[in-house]
Amino acid sequence: MKRKIILIVIAFVMILALTGCGSKKASVNRDTIKANNNSVVLYFSATGTTKKIAKKISEQIDSDIIEIVPKEKYESKDLDYNNDCRANREQKDSKARPEIKNKIDISKYNTIYLGYPIWWGTNPKIILTLLDSYDFTGKTIIPFCTSGGSDIADSVNELRSYNSKLNIRDGKRFSSDASDESIVKFINNNIPEKPKKVVKTMRILINGKGYNVNLENNETAQVFANMLPLKLNMKELNGNEKYADLDKSLPVNSSNPGKIKAGDLYLYGKNTIVIFYKSFDTTYSYTKIGHIGKLPDLGKDDVSVKFKKSE
Ligand SMILES: Cc1cc2nc3c(=O)[nH]c(=O)nc-3n(C[C@H](O)[C@H](O)[C@H](O)COP(=O)(O)O)c2cc1C
Repeated sequence: MKRKIILIVIAFVMILALTGCGSKKASVNRDTIKANNNSVVLYFSATGTTKKIAKKISEQIDSDIIEIVPKEKYESKDLDYNNDCRANREQKDSKARPEIKNKIDISKYNTIYLGYPIWWGTNPKIILTLLDSYDFTGKTIIPFCTSGGSDIADSVNELRSYNSKLNIRDGKRFSSDASDESIVKFINNNIPEKPKKVVKTMRILINGKGYNVNLENNETAQVFANMLPLKLNMKELNGNEKYADLDKSLPVNSSNPGKIKAGDLYLYGKNTIVIFYKSFDTTYSYTKIGHIGKLPDLGKDDVSVKFKKSE
């Protein structure tokens, strides 16, 4: 009998050891998250489920938390999806953009944990209103959702195709009774990357004479700035520009600027760098890289141009 009790105790201790019971719980490395980034949890929640998860994430990472408040509150009749309710009508209407009541300042955050419920397989339309209203350039979005069972993937794909410039991770769906462990795991699997330093200026030497260049805060300018130093022989064209092709392509986000100003530095196509030395109206599309201060008329000849980092 005594031996049997000892064996039961040993078995119990082994089960405890194997299941990890009594060991330290998984935790979030807040210091890494804080050092890498300034994060916020931003969420929409009609009936409080997503709000509960949003709060837990924000507590774990010790971040600010902001609710996306609809101007017109969703009452239970508006969410009665078995009938022709307001939420259903909005989800079916590609142009629906329900108004947001509160002003949301995301400017100081680099990482946004974006939470919402799944409605008809995707994000509620108010999330599109959010994307229309604020500039998410350069920010990392880490999406999370709650749902009756639907996954987050379709909504993330929709957000990606709605705004191709978004830097949005794959994210995760939570059930209403998600465990603290699953939230910790989600956070640890999505540690924000260190923000890259934005390069704001560079120097340009044209036929040996130096000028300052103010760079755009866009991916194209930043990738170009990381290629420096660079020497290009730039050809004359049309009495208003000098151009040269790069060996590699830069990120393109072109549009028609309407007016070209003398000193504008543009990307044409994927890899042609253009310096304009005269102002004029254009019908062509370019991606702006920056502007060269006090650029004179560069004359009829091809020019030798050095692009350097600012000291
Ligand atoms: C209009 C509407 C549509 C919904 N569609 C889905 C769906 O397609 N798939 C799903 O799993 N759950 C769906 N649900 C359930 C919600 O996603 C779920 O209850 C969610 O946790 C609610 O979050 P909230 O309390 O933060 O608003 C829907 C709910 C509503 C109101």
